[in-house]
Amino acid sequence: MEPTNYPLAPEDPIIYCNGAWVRQSKATVPFMDSGFWYGDGLFETLLVANSNIFRPRKHLERMQAGMRILKINFPVTDDEVVRLMEETVERNGLVETLLRLMCTRGTLSGSPWKFTGPANLFIGFRYAGALPPSPVKIKFVAEEDYPIARMVPALKSMTYLGNMLAIRDVVAAGAFEPVFVNRDGVITECAVRNVFFIKGNTLHTPDTDLGILPGVTRDLILELATDMGLAVDMAPILATDVDRMDEAFISSTGIGILPVTWEGFQPTDYPLTNRLKAAVERQVQQETGG
Ligand SMILES: Cc1ncc(COP(=O)(O)O)c(C=O)c1O
Repeated sequence: MEPTNYPLAPEDPIIYCNGAWVRQSKATVPFMDSGFWYGDGLFETLLVANSNIFRPRKHLERMQAGMRILKINFPVTDDEVVRLMEETVERNGLVETLLRLMCTRGTLSGSPWKFTGPANLFIGFRYAGALPPSPVKIKFVAEEDYPIARMVPALKSMTYLGNMLAIRDVVAAGAFEPVFVNRDGVITECAVRNVFFIKGNTLHTPDTDLGILPGVTRDLILELATDMGLAVDMAPILATDVDRMDEAFISSTGIGILPVTWEGFQPTDYPLTNRLKAAVERQVQQETGG
């Protein structure tokens, strides 16, 4: 089955804008918001399926880890954030979509470096365009040319400049997603997705030690791969070695699993990728009550 698009949110959704429920067209971000001024904030993209949010606590764990590093004063409990996200789903009658959770250091006043909060919180939707038929094309790019500025990997910070420029460039060149190669020639991650390769019965993926974002979908895939009896190897993957792989795919909350190809790669028909993809989809349905 080819990937389908997540239906868009209603034309003018009701979003949560820092304490108020407002129509998206009327929503505003305070001019002094730290995210707007300095990219000083964090975000998460969460999957809604069957009107339920998939693994919201996993996303909040990652966001909380980021807030501890950034010393953001976030006075809202995880329970309350989950409740607000569920209310967003309810208010808009959503069945399947991608929620966008955003938290910034706050509305700055006085000296920005002394500002202690409280944080600002926004919940809306992310546009999800139709996915092309798979396998989609990836393009290997040098991390040096597109520095990744998230500061530390745990941070899904609002500083995605290198990532965004890289994906814009490869999309303009006819590919779907860039895959970064670091100075040692080792593959790390994509602009907005994780990357996996399969050789024989082994799933290869970059280790989080390399400074990649620990994807919620990546975690799920690692769980399911082990259940399927695949071996998992997180040893460094050299860009010069990938042409000998049997299969490859990318993953994220937005796309689930998508088989990929690239120039110089002779793909098979992705039997293990498709099994993993079906297992991911089954797990999402199971956990969201589909
Ligand atoms: C750099 C990067 N890697 C991987 C992912 C995939 O993460 P997840 O599976 O949690 O969506 C994302 C998601 O935005 C990302 O930005």
